[in-house]
Amino acid sequence: MVVGMGKRGMHHASAFQANERFQVVGLCDIDKARLEAAAPKLGHPAIGTDAAALAFQLKPDVFCFCTLPNLRTPLLQAGIAAGAKLIAFEKPVALTSTEAMLLRDLLKKSGTKAVVSHQHRYGIHYRKVKELLVSGALGRVHTVYGTATGWMTHMLSHLIDYARWYAGEPRALWAMAQTAGRGKFTDNHPSPDYIAGVVQFEGDIRGNFESGAGAPDQPDVAKWWGKNRIGAQGTEGFAEVLTNGGWRAVTKSGGYQSGEGAMNYDLDMPPYIQEMADWLDDDQKVHSCCFESAYAGAEILFALQQSAARRGQIALPLTAGADEQVLLRASVPERAVLVSSAVNNKEYGIS
Ligand SMILES: NC(=O)c1ccc[n+]([C@@H]2O[C@H](COP(=O)([O-])OP(=O)(O)OC[C@H]3O[C@@H](n4cnc5c(N)ncnc54)[C@H](O)[C@@H]3O)[C@@H](O)[C@H]2O)c1
Repeated sequence: MVVGMGKRGMHHASAFQANERFQVVGLCDIDKARLEAAAPKLGHPAIGTDAAALAFQLKPDVFCFCTLPNLRTPLLQAGIAAGAKLIAFEKPVALTSTEAMLLRDLLKKSGTKAVVSHQHRYGIHYRKVKELLVSGALGRVHTVYGTATGWMTHMLSHLIDYARWYAGEPRALWAMAQTAGRGKFTDNHPSPDYIAGVVQFEGDIRGNFESGAGAPDQPDVAKWWGKNRIGAQGTEGFAEVLTNGGWRAVTKSGGYQSGEGAMNYDLDMPPYIQEMADWLDDDQKVHSCCFESAYAGAEILFALQQSAARRGQIALPLTAGADEQVLLRASVPERAVLVSSAVNNKEYGIS
């Protein structure tokens, strides 16, 4: 059953329907027109405007919700109450660490499997960078990084997830950050206009992250939302991916290498959905985008925000929840954000 018939809900429902291991049995949206438009495209499953009631009636194996970031807890609870074996939902995990911890605790108590959609990683260019890292061609990896001109609540979750993956999912020890610009606090992905920060991972690995108006342009990439650069540096080279601009690397043994690749939902969703079937069939085949991994990334995201609001370093793992949205609104200065490049002017309302 899929909740939220917006852009991502339609991607998920179509990909479930296209996979022979799944059948879409129910669709939900509070917007009846969207619901009625979606149903014929997905084999006319049951429809409803109340997610909890429909889930309880249908008892789906997989409960998937693709609602905006302000709506997580009630839908996770609806999936658990309906007895779903797996709950799939969209990034970011939550808007606050208090809510993320609640989701973690609810899932732990119920034993329900859960996955969070960081599906860019299935792109051939993302995987090529991972292959180079696993091959050892970069030597000892000491730095991972991610930058996006898109704002925090849209993009930072992706950047941290892929950088952690490239680093081999090390534990994060602490984070420190700064933020600027209040323009995007009223967006449906509420964010400071710019956040930049550092993360210390175990194994002497440094993480550098920037998301928003001040993050560097990637002039090689035309599509604004695809101007994301995620990569790793080691003692013998570097390798990085551009979301809409392929991959490139320089290594001691291989010299300069590069290749094509651009983020594509049609290519990235099928393997993401297939891994859900694999995990449902076999507990050992844990999904690459499992909640546990997404939660470790979310903790970093929240530690960066807490650092910006409260100053200084924030130790990880977090031991107590906070409302980072409130903290940031109380602390980001009124001064307008400064952009890295005029390519960011339009999205940040700068003339
Ligand atoms: N993984 C990715 O690559 C990616 C890309 C874009 C967006 N996203 C994420 O996907 C999520 C959804 O984004 P979107 O662009 O699809 O949003 P959207 O606005 O297009 O769709 C959200 C839908 O949820 C419905 N909805 C709201 N409240 C509901 C409720 N109580 N019950 C049922 N339906 C409800 C809305 O009516 C709407 O149709 C966000 O968290 C966003 O960050 C992820």
